Amino acid sequence: MKVELRGITKRFPGVIANRNVDLTLIEGEVHTLLGENGAGKSTLMNVLFGLYSATEGEILIDDSPVNFDGPNDAIAAGIGMVHQHFMLVPVFTVTENVMLGVEPTGPLGVLDRDQARKRLLDLSTKYGLEVDPDAYVEDLPVGVQQRVEILKALYRDADLLILDEPTAVLTPQETRDLFEVIKTLKASGRAIVFISHKLKEVLTISDRITVLRRGEVVGQTTPAESDEHALATMMVGREVSFEVEKTPAAPAKAMLEVNKLSVLDDRGQLAVSDVSLDVRAGEIVAIAGVQGNGQTELVEAITGMRKLAGGTVRLDGKDVTGQGPADMFHHGAAHVPEDRQKHGMVGAFPIKDNLVLNSYDEKPFASGIKVERAAVTENAQRLVKDFDIRTPSIDVHIGNLSGGNQQKAIVAREFSQAEVLLIAAQPTRGLDVGSIQYIHEQIVRKRDEGCAVLIVSSELDEVMSLGDRIAVMYRGQILDVVDRADATRDKIGLLMAGSRQKDATA
Ligand SMILES: Nc1ncnc2c1ncn2[C@@H]1O[C@H](COP(=O)(O)OP(=O)(O)OP(=O)(O)O)[C@@H](O)[C@H]1O
Ligand SMILES: [Mg+2]
Repeated sequence: MKVELRGITKRFPGVIANRNVDLTLIEGEVHTLLGENGAGKSTLMNVLFGLYSATEGEILIDDSPVNFDGPNDAIAAGIGMVHQHFMLVPVFTVTENVMLGVEPTGPLGVLDRDQARKRLLDLSTKYGLEVDPDAYVEDLPVGVQQRVEILKALYRDADLLILDEPTAVLTPQETRDLFEVIKTLKASGRAIVFISHKLKEVLTISDRITVLRRGEVVGQTTPAESDEHALATMMVGREVSFEVEKTPAAPAKAMLEVNKLSVLDDRGQLAVSDVSLDVRAGEIVAIAGVQGNGQTELVEAITGMRKLAGGTVRLDGKDVTGQGPADMFHHGAAHVPEDRQKHGMVGAFPIKDNLVLNSYDEKPFASGIKVERAAVTENAQRLVKDFDIRTPSIDVHIGNLSGGNQQKAIVAREFSQAEVLLIAAQPTRGLDVGSIQYIHEQIVRKRDEGCAVLIVSSELDEVMSLGDRIAVMYRGQILDVVDRADATRDKIGLLMAGSRQKDATA
């Protein structure tokens, strides 16, 4: 199959998301789309998938023009898409999700669930996408949910598979598994579109790379002709530094004191067991670990989003054990949550209101019961500029921003409100290299202003560049806390894999 996009332009009110884009996708090739947050990658693929209609331009499949009125037309033409934010029904089983909308029926129009289940299992074996067809989607880790999304596309006979930031939420092992699947799909003659901000991955998996900047194609390359720096420069249009500049920390008093904390996960299992950790004013403590080792539950418990099963939390000397998120906020603690869609924003509210989501009833944004619109507007204009949130205006609903720009908005709000403690879970997930550099600088700045900073990250690079002390979590416990000066990638990597060996630096 050959799919050609010719002269695609897509306008939204106030933005040209794609401008005269040409792109050719051919079978047996992984074609990567690279570009800054808001460059137009998801939009272009949504046009190809029939979710948006192009303002101008045409799509050809095997040299014949096609016209998609919606995703069903695209699916019928052999195009499948796994979206940046998954679209599965959590309370349905894997089989139910996969067959949704294309349910096979028996002679009397009766739903033939067995037939669907069998076809699903065949596909799963053929492409190495292991799943339990009877499991409920809500019980599955993200890596497996993603396999379900891919199976759903293959079940509909996709010849071209679009993967929009599939690795953003995966563990390193899950990413390696996904890449094996991609190679099998490629070998079976499918065309793959891959979107990612992780340049190392892009260089590993791509056959061809097209770079978009502000909606336009600015270049095409291959891994052989390129490297991380060249790709970054092409994307951003300037040199990007991968190093974080920072002076040694000057830690003062303990702002956050976590003592013997235990926390249960959603299924009632012990996710965090007896964890103790201090974060002092003027230092960055980075929690490293492969996702799913209790980091999420630990942060949720500290920030008051999840009940504790035991232990205490003190903030700036005060006992805040068991207090809710609003109380923590009023004590000067801000929090960038891991799941921005669920906990960080209200998609159908304007950006400017999302930027004061937890303080709209306080000075300077309100006096008594009166909302100070001017202060809300001024705050939004400043944050949009400082954090380079790409949007036509501060009145746009935050749900319409590109994924990375939603993340930047939440980071901007929380960073501007952190007084004594800043907790950020996966602060740069889904961000482009330029934005990562900026957010890292801001994290160091918060530290230097005297804030205590706690970062949770599954990216080893991020942990190594930011942490003044690095705490490694494994199976619900902190295995070790290492001073940055004594930390090597090998040592932290081994701890992340559960090894307590202390002299593993060779
Ligand atoms: N439904 C929409 N309504 C209005 N504007 C939109 C809509 N969808 C996207 N946009 C705008 O189009 C531009 C491109 O967004 P898009 O989501 O395609 O970026 P992206 O390259 O996928 O970025 P990211 O890496 O952050 O996911 C952005 O300015 C965004 O705000
Ligand atoms: Mg996107």
